[in-house]
Amino acid sequence: MYGKTMDYVSIEKLKWRSRRSMLELDLYFERFINTGELAKLNEVELLAYQYLLTLEDGDLLTLFQWKKELADPALQEIVNKIARINFYKEYFMTEQMNSSVEAVKAVKVDFGNGKVVEYPIYKATIGQDVVDFRTFGKSGMWSYDPAFLATAACESKITYIDGDKGQLFYRGYPIEQLAEHSTHLEGAYLLLRGELPTQAQKDEYEHAILRHNMVPDQFHSFFKGFRRDSHPMAMLGGAVSAMAAFYPEDFDFTNADHRRIAIRRLIAKMPTIVAMCYRYNQGLPFMYPQNNLDYASNFLHMMFATPCEQYKPNPIIAKAFDRILLLHADHEQNASTSTVRLAGSSGTHPFAAVAAGVACLWGPSHGGANEAVLKMLTEIGDESKVEEYMQGVKDKKYRLMGFGHRVYKNMDPRASIMRQTCNDVLDALGKREDPLFKLAMKLEKIALEDSYFIDHKLYPNVDFYSGIILQAIGIPTNMFTTIFALARTVGWLAQWQEMIEDADFKIGRPRQLYTGYTARDYVAVSERK
Ligand code: CMC
Repeated sequence: MYGKTMDYVSIEKLKWRSRRSMLELDLYFERFINTGELAKLNEVELLAYQYLLTLEDGDLLTLFQWKKELADPALQEIVNKIARINFYKEYFMTEQMNSSVEAVKAVKVDFGNGKVVEYPIYKATIGQDVVDFRTFGKSGMWSYDPAFLATAACESKITYIDGDKGQLFYRGYPIEQLAEHSTHLEGAYLLLRGELPTQAQKDEYEHAILRHNMVPDQFHSFFKGFRRDSHPMAMLGGAVSAMAAFYPEDFDFTNADHRRIAIRRLIAKMPTIVAMCYRYNQGLPFMYPQNNLDYASNFLHMMFATPCEQYKPNPIIAKAFDRILLLHADHEQNASTSTVRLAGSSGTHPFAAVAAGVACLWGPSHGGANEAVLKMLTEIGDESKVEEYMQGVKDKKYRLMGFGHRVYKNMDPRASIMRQTCNDVLDALGKREDPLFKLAMKLEKIALEDSYFIDHKLYPNVDFYSGIILQAIGIPTNMFTTIFALARTVGWLAQWQEMIEDADFKIGRPRQLYTGYTARDYVAVSERK
């Protein structure tokens, strides 16, 4: 079983070590044996190998962590061989677990102390390939990449962005085609399930989502604990997290049915919760959802209807709103999605993980940007002040909100679609001559023509236009980011689900470069200067 050259005593020793639960170490040896490498050893090497088995676990581990150089070259050679086999075995196992990941070659890293280690390269279907540095820590160093500028934190099949080309695909479908032909709920099905639904699947999915949009009745009382003037994002984060308390049945994140129910529940109820944030701020009664309305129209109904008056959503506005949701549904591993993945990696309830995503999205560098756009436009105040404001941006006194993107260094494809939708909405509402929108258009024109913005690749992003559309529809500025959260809930949950179902799933745990004090003694308060 363990290879012909291994004697009975050695086999027993190995088994005994396994029972003592130094499992990782024993797996090292087992992999070496199972690949047939042991059988290839010559007599001297075999002796060295058997000597290794007599060592204490701690000493053995030190050898594999390259913390100790060996005087005996035969011994060193065996250690290297075992380590090398394990390196390739790890890559082989990853390949087996994720059949789409193919190691094409390896990069060599020279640690400068005689150690050269190879790390496998995995090929992406499109876009940049990755080097697998998961075993990098064994070198005695960590890789350092604050803000994840060069780190792929996961393997994903959901969304692809090419920032230089200005491309965004959901499951391979270009966003432009989806925006033209699809809807937010169909997009949600696609993102979550990987394929566009058949008619029967679409009907079942829409029926399920549109019939589960009510929140538990006590939820209304829960809301009343907030101050009337609370920021909607503060309420939303609390409310999404609290939803878990309203469904107290045992939730097991490893159970696929539990996951499916939780995902559908949150996507169905999110519009209701977001609308409640607005109604509560306004001192208006909460409106129950209407099952005969589509997802976007129902949201507009819960926002703007009153118990005394019917609200008939304008189809152009409802379509524009649905498009905002679809375009914001996912955007691969952005800050809030990474937050949801990291929070969810502990096995927490998905509503709690999404609440963490809401918190992250709130910031002005992320989902708070559309709110910041309107604040900026209001601050500029008048078309005649645009040039002066732009000079201030060039002088780096402040940033132009709704412009620039960490990934897109070309026009954000969502922004091009939103620009057209923005025009349609302004026309439908007869707001083209509104001073705020004229100001926004002047600012856009200057930014697209000015060499500073062209050289810095600062194009208007999706939030520049979505902010203008939301303002035109009558949604207050402080609600903008909640709309983004409503849309992104789909992407957060799709990414969370993908993470849990990944064979390599583990709790996330970054490392650090520690530059603080080394150990020092406590100083009594009377002796402190
Ligand atoms: N206005 C003026 N200058 C800018 C801006 C801006 N909005 N964004 C970047 N720059 C300049 C920056 O000053 C720097 O110039 P230099 O090289 O001369 O020092 C250069 O561009 C690179 O800046 P950076 O901060 O390294 O770029 P980044 O990729 O880290 O920033 C960003 C991305 C989105 C945080 C930034 O563009 C920004 O703050 N934009 C405004 C806020 C905004 O609209 N955010 C929404 C992003 S889209 C929604 C989403 O996906 O969440």
